[in-house]
Amino acid sequence: MHSMTRTAAIRQSVHELHRLGDVADELLGALVELEQRVHRASSHYDTGPWRVENFARDLPGKRELSLVAMASGKPIGFLIASRCPDGAHIHRVATDPRHQGLGIASRLLALLLARASGVVTLICDPHNQSALAVYARAGFRVTGTTPEGKLSLATGTPFHR
Ligand SMILES: CC(C)(COP(=O)(O)OP(=O)(O)OC[C@H]1O[C@@H](n2cnc3c(N)ncnc32)[C@H](O)[C@@H]1OP(=O)(O)O)[C@@H](O)C(=O)NCCC(=O)NCCS
Repeated sequence: MHSMTRTAAIRQSVHELHRLGDVADELLGALVELEQRVHRASSHYDTGPWRVENFARDLPGKRELSLVAMASGKPIGFLIASRCPDGAHIHRVATDPRHQGLGIASRLLALLLARASGVVTLICDPHNQSALAVYARAGFRVTGTTPEGKLSLATGTPFHR
């Protein structure tokens, strides 16, 4: 009985999602630490980990669209996005290595896609198989390659001009 209650409490806390704008001021340091942990554990994330100024940088719609997953009062995953003319762009998606494979990134992506209108885009390293699998399941498709050799992905319904 006691262990069932504990398990339910852990599931509940893992599923706690916040808008970046509601938690950014108090969590900036913890987000940078999480970013560094993810960066150390991942081979195909990005060239360098984001710093405080990257998380704090003001972009259109960033505080409303970006999401932070929390467990026991600490960030364990995040999705950083901002609005752009045709929809939204995802700058960063990461889950704490200790919490990966539990559906956190998928849930963050699903919530963003439910909230954002238009096309949602992102760029991913072609060797980042786990991320590409999560994006494919979320409905993203590859739309091209950047000059740096990264894959461009997109989902959503384009605006008709
Ligand atoms: C890519 C990344 C964000 C995925 O985060 P995640 O929270 O582990 O993603 P999910 O749990 O939603 O899905 C990942 C896997 O768990 C599986 N999964 C999803 N829900 C699950 C559940 N309830 N129980 C068990 N497994 C589950 C998925 O099927 C998926 O399996 P796969 O590894 O075979 O593809 C994470 O691996 C990460 O932070 N990587 C480093 C940073 C990075 O590369 N970011 C992307 C840059 S483009």
